[in-house]
Order: sequence, then C-alpha cells, then structure tokens
Amino acid sequence: DRVSLVLSSKVCVSKEGTVAHYGMLATDEIEEGEVLFTIPRSALLHQGTSKVSAVLEKEKSSLESSSGWVPLLLALLYEYTSPQSHWRPYLSLWTDFKTLDLPMFWPTEERDALLRGTGISEAVNRDLANIRREYMDVVLPFITKHPHLWSPDTHTLGLYMQLVAFVMAYSFQEPQEGEDDDEEEAASPPMMVPMADMLNHVSNHNANLEFTPDCLKMVSVRPIQKGEEVFNTYGEMANWQLLHMYGFTEPYRSNSNDTADIPVANLYRVATQGIQSDLDRQLMEEQWEVLCEMMQDKAAFVFGKQGCLTDTELHTVLKVLCMSKEEFSEFKENEGWEEDDEDEDKISLVFSNEGLPGLKASWKWLIHEAARLTVRSYGDDEGKTEGEGSDWALNDQATLAGLNSRQQNALQVRCGQKTILYRLMELTKS
Ligand SMILES: *[C@@H]1O[C@H](CO)[C@@H](O)[C@H](O)[C@H]1NC(C)=O
Repeated sequence: DRVSLVLSSKVCVSKEGTVAHYGMLATDEIEEGEVLFTIPRSALLHQGTSKVSAVLEKEKSSLESSSGWVPLLLALLYEYTSPQSHWRPYLSLWTDFKTLDLPMFWPTEERDALLRGTGISEAVNRDLANIRREYMDVVLPFITKHPHLWSPDTHTLGLYMQLVAFVMAYSFQEPQEGEDDDEEEAASPPMMVPMADMLNHVSNHNANLEFTPDCLKMVSVRPIQKGEEVFNTYGEMANWQLLHMYGFTEPYRSNSNDTADIPVANLYRVATQGIQSDLDRQLMEEQWEVLCEMMQDKAAFVFGKQGCLTDTELHTVLKVLCMSKEEFSEFKENEGWEEDDEDEDKISLVFSNEGLPGLKASWKWLIHEAARLTVRSYGDDEGKTEGEGSDWALNDQATLAGLNSRQQNALQVRCGQKTILYRLMELTKS
C-alpha cells in the first residue's frame, strides 16, 4: 500500500499450493484480460531508484561491461547491506540467495557429472569467468574509489556472485521497441520488479507482465480457475535454460518450449566421415571455413519439439557441405547465393517435424548421424535402445522420488533433450 502497488482481490501470494517456495494463487474465478496487480515505476528497484543512483549515473561510463548488469549490481550491493535501505522489506525476503540452488553454486564435479552433454556446465563456466572478471576489473576499482558507500570487506566477490544469481533468477527486462530488427539494439538493463517476481513460470502460462509508461501490470492471458496457480512466463525457455538461470525445470513432457542443441561441429564431423580422396577432404575443409565465417558465433543448431528452430542456418550448412567442387566455386564467386534466398516460411516448413522425413537422403543422413553423435555426448547408456532406456523410467514416480532435487532437475533436462534428439533420428531415418 505504501508504494501504491495495487493487488486484485482475486489473487494472493502463497507458500502453499504453488510449485516453488512462493507463488501466486487465484482466490476467485479470473477471466482473460483481467489486471491482477499494478506496480508503479517508482516501486521498481534499479540503478535509477537506488540511494546510490547519482554516483552510478555520474560515473556510468566507467561501469560499462559485457553483461550490462554492473550498475544494478552495485545498487543491490549497497541496498542489500544498508540497514536503513528503503528496499529492506523487499530484500529481506531473501536471506540467502543460495536457496536458489542454481548450477553455478553446485560443486564442479557434481555439475559436470549430472549435466554432462546438456551444455549447462559450459554455460556456467563462462558465467563464472565473466562474473569474476567484471568484479575484478570494474566493480572492485569502483567500490574502492567510493569508500563511504561500499567496502571490499563487505561487498565481496562472494556476495557479488549471490546477487548475480538473484538478478539472473528474478530480474525483468523491459522489451525494446522494434525488437525484430535485431541490429545492435542495446538490451535494456535488468531491474527488480517486486510482486511480479513472486510468480513462477510455466511454458503454458496464464498471465503476462505488460509495460506501460506509468506502471507495470500483470494481466491474465486466459481464464484462471479459483485455486489455480497464476503463472507468468520468463520467455520461451528450454529446460536447460530454466535450470541454468532459475534453478528449476518443468517436467520435460509438459515444457512445450524445450529444445536440444546439435553442435555445428558434429555435423561437420559426420560430413568428413568416409571421405576418401585428399581432394574431397580439401574441398570440405574450404567449405567448412566459409561456413564458420558465415555462422560467426552460432555454434549449434537448435531443435524444438516441432522441428528445427535455426532452420536458415541448418539449410545453409547442409547446402554448402553437399556442394560439388563446381557449385562451391560458383558459390564463392558470387559471394553467396544470388536471388536464391528461398522464403523463410518455406524453409521453416522444410525443417519442421512434418517436413524432415521428406528431405533428400544426403541431408537426412547428415542430420541423423549428427543427432546420433550428439546423443553419445551424454556419455551414459540411458536410452540405449533409442527411446526406452532408463531415462524413460521418469514415468515412474518412485524413481524420481529416490533422487535429490539436483538429480531430478538434471534428469528432466537430459530426458527432454534426448527425447528431441531420438525423435529427430526417427524422422530422418533412411
Ligand atoms: C512455447 O510454448 C508456448 C505455450 O505452450 C507455445 O504457444 C509456443 O508455440 C512455444 N514456442 C515454441 C518455439 O515452441
């Protein structure tokens, strides 16, 4: 009430009857399009509303970093440790961010063992290196320069890491205008949105946060029954992303946005198998070089439950890798395709689950074998018989119940990814 947050009488925050620690429940029938709560912009916590906003604004050029999170994190470091903070009631909900149990807090061996093949360990290692570097290069020099506000003894790397996890799991980013022309659009900085961050996520959500100039509104996107949990969406999230950033997963069958990656390098490895002549090998190497340049930092093809989500890239790679010497020379001379850019809808259809079985045999074989190679990278014998291995014992509640929560989440990620890969192998069988 004091910060003018308005909560509908049809919802409540609860610790019971929700999928996680906190959540929101409907206490009455809710129709589509109803406003569940509104939060004025003054009640959002970010670098502009923190007590230290002036110094952060004045010296913002020294706070630039690849993540763009440093100003918010400095504000949180200050507010979280200031007894008089205006944000005390909000921040005191989190006495220890480790309860999030993000994989970044797991012991390395456990992480590597449970998450092998999922891509999460690699993502966490990149995060940890970035966090450490940002703290040492940007944060520490800054707080040392402002000893009346921060202190290296209080505002340690350890606390910084916990707050990074807090931002990762609970912050919101305002959608940018004209997000489709994805050219160099600076992402908006993250901010903390009290109340909105109480809501849990499912892919098949029933509420959504709207941003208006004056306030933020949580609005139902379909009818919600009395007693049902109100779910926001954190975006279209695969289970590996949910576990990486938020520390939970959806049961893999119900996560309609689950995905599995096939490293581009695996497709190349398959393509080079069985090459006989040095000439062919040389051609393939040249093709690969050109592709690496075209793909830039895209290292994997992403497959969802309905088909390939990076269809344009997959199309390009298959096309180039299957070119004859003559076709490839022509392709290089033209610096790509002339007037050949088939329309995107058609390509996405071709690489959907419906289209895949109809691909030409050479392409299907490449995808099939690359999927097989990728499945092997999990380094276990779950699902040995392509679809009926021990992972699929997930049906069995007793199996899940015998696992701790890290093991359960890891299993959900692996099962989801392998299910997608096996399905893909099925669809591309010769
Ligand atoms: C993500 O899930 C939502 C809700 O189930 C669905 O409408 C949407 O099509 C999914 N997106 C993808 C890319 O699968």
